[in-house]
Amino acid sequence: MEDLSPRPGELEPIETASRDELTALQTRRLRWTVRRAYDNVAHYRAAFDAAGVHPDDLKTLDDLVRLPFTTKADLRDNYPFGMFAVPRDQIVRIHASSGTTGRPTVVGYTRDDLDVWATVVARSIRAAGGRPGMVLHNAYGYGLFTGGLGAHAGAEKLGCTVVPVSGGMTERQVRLIQDFRPDVIMVTPSYMLALTDEMERQGVDPRTTSLKVGIFGAEPWTNDMRREIEQRLDMHAVDIYGLSEIIGPGVANECVETKDGLHVWEDHFYPEVIDPISGQPLPDGEEGELVLTSLTKQAMPMIRYRTRDLTRLLPGTARTMRRIEKITGRSDDMMIVRGVNLFPTQIEELILGTATLSPHFQCVLDRDGRLDTLTVRVERRESAPAADAAEAGAQLEHLVKNRIGVSVSVDVVEPGGIERSVGKMRRIVDQRRPH
Ligand code: DLL
Repeated sequence: MEDLSPRPGELEPIETASRDELTALQTRRLRWTVRRAYDNVAHYRAAFDAAGVHPDDLKTLDDLVRLPFTTKADLRDNYPFGMFAVPRDQIVRIHASSGTTGRPTVVGYTRDDLDVWATVVARSIRAAGGRPGMVLHNAYGYGLFTGGLGAHAGAEKLGCTVVPVSGGMTERQVRLIQDFRPDVIMVTPSYMLALTDEMERQGVDPRTTSLKVGIFGAEPWTNDMRREIEQRLDMHAVDIYGLSEIIGPGVANECVETKDGLHVWEDHFYPEVIDPISGQPLPDGEEGELVLTSLTKQAMPMIRYRTRDLTRLLPGTARTMRRIEKITGRSDDMMIVRGVNLFPTQIEELILGTATLSPHFQCVLDRDGRLDTLTVRVERRESAPAADAAEAGAQLEHLVKNRIGVSVSVDVVEPGGIERSVGKMRRIVDQRRPH
């Protein structure tokens, strides 16, 4: 794999600023954000008043804990445009979540917001090893989802040649990779696996493509999955994190030279980790729910937004800004089986340690009488003999029992037996009937 570490002078000065400089900037920007939210968004004014706090109370970053959290329910209650802090005619772009479980979550951007977004995505791509002049294949979906257009604008800002493929038409994606010879690919990790399988189906050795780095996000993936992708494609695999409510992709990104967690671009987004039950802030290093506050956003300031993503805050390494550890999962994705809590990422790690099994899997929750059951449906690897499937299934059951402490059944299916996603993969299929 090529050395894609940044060379001197390539980073923005703020990326290597001292902690003190960063704190001063954050404090100034936080006070500006909170004041604007209070003055322009009825929801924030009411929430602050109810909590008995006022923007003038916020003097240092430590005072942030006095402000109330913002949740997805607040966005839904103010559907569609109630969280905007600027008149609607200053909003130049809308994005929205799919809204499969209720009203969609709507977010808006001013022209300056779009510029900040492109800046943080450009920074993310550079951190991942992308450079001006590289060809970038963008397979994140274009549309209301922030992945496609967000990655697109950042790549253009960095000076890449962008190929706006979007998701789907897997066969054609592989042909375009062969013909346009991209250096960088941006796509969900699960769809990267589908693309890799398709390369093999077409007789293309995935290790021989032009790709030097993949920038993967929008869903949880593990370090074991990184090893799998890097080994199969002979390229770097780097993590990008973000969510529409905060801006979209580009809130945090790994550096290719360290691959040790994602640096939060703290000049624009202030991170905290809290105990998800009590709401109390946790010290850096402890695992809990990530809470983010926007520091520069005009259209839709977000104060202490509860992401539901579970991670830890760690000190900076390749950059001064703090890192988040790879996300374990969303608190909504925590499965409770016979009193044991577990996440699909834990299953992913164990599957990747079992040679016969491929990383295409789903967790099926069902109910047997009063007990919840979990069946892991996982594909056999194309290269592994069908005769080994049953033994591999038993081995995985054993591993899950030993490492996680819960009995599950494993159903090893034939290659292609698990539905492929073109965007975010649905890891959990819940077949339990309501009580
Ligand atoms: O998924 C934005 C994005 C697009 C990020 C492309 C990265 C790449 P939403 O659709 O609003 O936005 O979903 C946000 O996806 O709260 C996490 O639960 C999950 N997520 C995003 N990135 C990661 C990641 C986009 N790197 C939700 N690791 C977030 C784990 C991720 N989960």
